[in-house]
Amino acid sequence: MKNWWKEAVVYQIYPRSFKDSNGDGIGDINGIIDKLDYVKELGIDIIWLSPVYKSPNDDNGYDISDYRSIMDEFGTIEDWERMLEQIHRRGMKLIMDLVVNHTSDEHKWFIESRSSKDSPKRDYYIWHDGKNGSEPNNWESYFSIPAWTYDEATKQYYLHLFTSKQPDLNWENPKVVDEVFDMMKWWLDKGIDGFRMDVINLIGKPEGLLDSVRFGERYDGYVFDPALYANNQKTHTYLKQMRKKVLSNYDVMTVGETPMVTPDIALEYVDVKNEELDMVFHFEHVESVGNAVPKGFFRIMLFVIGELWNMLLHGSRKFDVLKYKDLVNRWYTVIERGGWNSQYFSNHDQPRQVSKFGDVTTYHRRSAKMLATLIHTLPGTPYVYQGEEIGMTNIKLLSIDDYRDIATINAYKKAVEGGIPAAFAMMAVHSKSRDNARTPMQWNSEKYAGFSTGMPWLKVNPNYKKINAEKQANDPASILTYYKKIISLRKEIDTLVYGDFKIMDEKNRRSISYIRKYESKKLLVIINLTGKRAHAKIDKDIDLARAKVILTNIRKSSFAGDGHVILKPYEAAIIEL
Ligand code: GLC
Ligand code: CA
Repeated sequence: MKNWWKEAVVYQIYPRSFKDSNGDGIGDINGIIDKLDYVKELGIDIIWLSPVYKSPNDDNGYDISDYRSIMDEFGTIEDWERMLEQIHRRGMKLIMDLVVNHTSDEHKWFIESRSSKDSPKRDYYIWHDGKNGSEPNNWESYFSIPAWTYDEATKQYYLHLFTSKQPDLNWENPKVVDEVFDMMKWWLDKGIDGFRMDVINLIGKPEGLLDSVRFGERYDGYVFDPALYANNQKTHTYLKQMRKKVLSNYDVMTVGETPMVTPDIALEYVDVKNEELDMVFHFEHVESVGNAVPKGFFRIMLFVIGELWNMLLHGSRKFDVLKYKDLVNRWYTVIERGGWNSQYFSNHDQPRQVSKFGDVTTYHRRSAKMLATLIHTLPGTPYVYQGEEIGMTNIKLLSIDDYRDIATINAYKKAVEGGIPAAFAMMAVHSKSRDNARTPMQWNSEKYAGFSTGMPWLKVNPNYKKINAEKQANDPASILTYYKKIISLRKEIDTLVYGDFKIMDEKNRRSISYIRKYESKKLLVIINLTGKRAHAKIDKDIDLARAKVILTNIRKSSFAGDGHVILKPYEAAIIEL
């Protein structure tokens, strides 16, 4: 079925780091408005805005203290309304971040809830007595601390899967569900075009809150057993209600952030028949980047040695090509079976994609363009994270004091307290910290990269004179220009949106090649995922000598017609057959 959100390209704005309009060093809504033409010129259809709601910023806005007002530092609701109007005027859409697994502990619901066991809001959150003088169970939060905090006032513990300033809401309470639905309607009635739903597969908590039996083992980079509280059947019930009572009354899109899902689990959320979500973000392709450093001295040492080894070998962690192709194939089945996918490598929680999967020294441009080619030609809706389109890279800050991300700071502290030498813990920070993606957007080569006139809240990457938007704007060979081209290509050629998908030369350890076919049109995409030359085999029925290369990231991709091609490092080409 055709849908506008299948044809769209989404751009994520992390407001704190996008553009500061008043010199206080913090990005804001007026800054976003100033840059809407830039976003439009890139070819973007939908903006996903990370949280701008009132928040004490323990987790940069993912801890909300008032869902219906704007964080002072970012502006006012009037500014926000003007921004929405300006987005719509340019023919773009806006989706807001919906963070309803938890609130801030400074939200009035929680303040009331914690005030007394008899508070009418007590059951808005998840309170429990301790067990034998300690936490009710052995769960650990995502951010390297226990998932329970004891509250002196009422002598019980509350659950928080993230920081202790992010208490989890109790979705079993119908009043909570109503409050959330009302709040969603309030934003939808203002005219927004959908939601990105923060860790939405964690909202339904399991019966009994049992201990995790796999406690201490790592799963997808985290220290707990996700089977216990992710992807619970209750979550499906809540999402169905949400769709029926709220979303179905509007023409909007939804994308759920869902850590710890496989294609089968994801399908339950996005199968059109199930009427829950339109698509989800899975983590299989980025999973080697957990936010947490592993637990225990031995595990951390292994991890550090692994990182060192990777750095010595390739400068950073690279694709496991066969594994990657396998997962791309498996995720395509979600579409075949009646759902839809999202395509991304970057967001505000992940390291910069070109640093992780590309090469920032010898092949910065080429490898950044190669990654763009994947995102925009694989089946699913592409998501671009601010700065990705100019090839922004990870940052190496020398002192932990320069980091702002709570997950980074907690993990570092824990590692060092556990006996890991600080220099080693710092290496993990450099490759994994979420602040890699949160450094200010590099607009030009002026002071603070043109992000602000004042000292930014997080340091600017020192490479901003080399890598910035202004410099790339009129350069035909720039990463930015390539993004513009590939985004417009995706709009011209619906094969890239609706075409089916078939990988060829599956066993190749360096390249990925696939055919996208829709009605009578056929495209071949050939990509070398590595920094070495690759030999790719082409199916016999394809005559490459006569085919037309419609986009390539090297000066000229040319292929002989003998069923065999040699690809330069990171070469990527889209070919019309
Ligand atoms: C999501 C957000 C992340 C945040 C967490 C808690 O994973 O993307 O930034 O820290 O949820 O809200
Ligand atoms: Ca500001």
